[in-house]
Amino acid sequence: MFKKGKVVIITGASKGIGKAISYKLAARKMNLILAARDISSLNSIKEDITNKFDCKVHIIPTDLTIEDEIKNLVEKTINKYNCIDVLINNAGVGRFARIDEFTIEDYNFIFDVNMKGLFLLTKYVVPHLIKQNSGHIINISSIAGKNGFKSGTLYSASKHAVQGFTWSLREDLKEYKIKVTTICPGSVLTEFGSKKPTHVEWSMEPEDIAHACDYLVTESPNVNTAEMIIKPRYNPRTINWENR
Ligand SMILES: NC(=O)c1ccc[n+]([C@@H]2O[C@H](COP(=O)([O-])OP(=O)(O)OC[C@H]3O[C@@H](n4cnc5c(N)ncnc54)[C@H](OP(=O)(O)O)[C@@H]3O)[C@@H](O)[C@H]2O)c1
Repeated sequence: MFKKGKVVIITGASKGIGKAISYKLAARKMNLILAARDISSLNSIKEDITNKFDCKVHIIPTDLTIEDEIKNLVEKTINKYNCIDVLINNAGVGRFARIDEFTIEDYNFIFDVNMKGLFLLTKYVVPHLIKQNSGHIINISSIAGKNGFKSGTLYSASKHAVQGFTWSLREDLKEYKIKVTTICPGSVLTEFGSKKPTHVEWSMEPEDIAHACDYLVTESPNVNTAEMIIKPRYNPRTINWENR
């Protein structure tokens, strides 16, 4: 069933949900490849994790808007382990405004990370998974990939794109025994959207999403959970996204 020492690439590992996933999988003694741009955060996470857990951590600074850096992330992982068991496409960005206030720069900012970066990293990882005839790709989408909301046109569109991408990817990779899952969280207390988190009773913690990833990477080899919709237990009040 559960094999020790899986090789896991986690994007957006420098903070928020990606950081929480890193700690959760460290407790499983997995070999972590942590990717993001903030090298000092990645270094301190690596130091803390290796002090607390019996696992290997490698950081590979990566800007997901740069194709060569994405290729480098995959090449370095393969050179080190000759294997990738799990790819967690977690990195994401958001900006929120009414449609006429958005610019093409906002559009590119959101889609370059949320969709193009995810597409390219998946594209370069998949040949290795096909060769192995195994692997699991987990895409962190959003409840915004299923619904629309005020001020969310571009972000919601990018996450709807991730949803369509992921469901089609699943069909492409079924015959190679590669698992594909999309996770759609509701509101999570992180610095997402460049605001410091404030405690609100209807938000979830990053650890709640990490817990879901922990289930996915240890689920029975006979199953592949296709989608997880994770909502807070309590009903959200109206969110003013423009002030986030
Ligand atoms: N928070 C929520 O309410 C919520 C709800 C549903 C879904 N989500 C999704 O969950 C994922 C994680 O969000 P979060 O809340 O943890 O946000 P966060 O705290 O802002 O973290 C975002 C992560 O993405 C990385 N990132 C951003 N731009 C990047 C780039 N160009 N290249 C590489 N990495 C980049 C950041 O690392 P660096 O800055 O170091 O590069 C950071 O580690 C996102 O996909 C988001 O859409 C969040």
